[in-house]
Amino acid sequence: QQPVIVVPVVFHIVYRTTRENISTEQILSQLDVLNTDYRRQNADSTQTLPQFKSIAADTRIQFCLATRDPLGRMTTGITRKSTTATGFDLGDDVKFSRFSGQDAWDSDRYLNIWVCNLSGETLGYSQYPGGPTETDGVVLDYTTVGQPPVNPFASSYNLGRTGTHEVGHWLGLQHIWGPDDASCTDSDDIADTPNQEDASNGCPTSAVTSCNNSLQGGDMYQNYLDYTDDACMNLFTQGQAEYMQSILSTVRQNILT
Ligand code: ARG
Ligand code: ZN
Repeated sequence: QQPVIVVPVVFHIVYRTTRENISTEQILSQLDVLNTDYRRQNADSTQTLPQFKSIAADTRIQFCLATRDPLGRMTTGITRKSTTATGFDLGDDVKFSRFSGQDAWDSDRYLNIWVCNLSGETLGYSQYPGGPTETDGVVLDYTTVGQPPVNPFASSYNLGRTGTHEVGHWLGLQHIWGPDDASCTDSDDIADTPNQEDASNGCPTSAVTSCNNSLQGGDMYQNYLDYTDDACMNLFTQGQAEYMQSILSTVRQNILT
């Protein structure tokens, strides 16, 4: 069995309004959601559809706040930076001080999570392993961080699962329906996620099938790498866990404390 791996995290809070300057409690709540979901200690793991219970995985990946900054000084693992920007987009300005954001900490050694006001409907986005170091990490809209009561924002995406989803991308996972929408010929390259045509939304109340996947159990709409509501998501598969572990022992091997 794999040892439990701990990934050091720095949260960069890039805010203009006091609402956007989320509390330390809200950040700790997000860390807690990550740790709970990645070890499959989430209370809603009991909701996993029966046909997927045997492949639902404890990834054995954990997250802690960084205790030393890149210069070796003590840190809380949280930076706070006031910005003049009213919102950020997928253009990565939030990752650069010169664009009124905050520079990354060495992404070989830390998982950088930027929290800001993402414009429009964007809940979060991430960079896959192997990309440029200055932009490596995860960006989360401030309303998605952590869960109630410390997350005060009412939405279908307020249980911290955007973080769980984006960190999955950061560890190399693709959406379970594969890179192309409305296609059965592409794959997420993970063997135990059923072939699925497109993203799921909301929370289906009965079985959904696509791409002739009924024998594999149908669409796995509860997977963290689908697009369902936070309250609907509750698993990674064994195949996804092994893939993320393999990234942590290769491309991201220097991240380990
Ligand atoms: N749209 C984002 C992405 O593809 C995040 C989706 C998160 N979904 C959620 N239920 N929190 O990376
Ligand atoms: Zn995604």
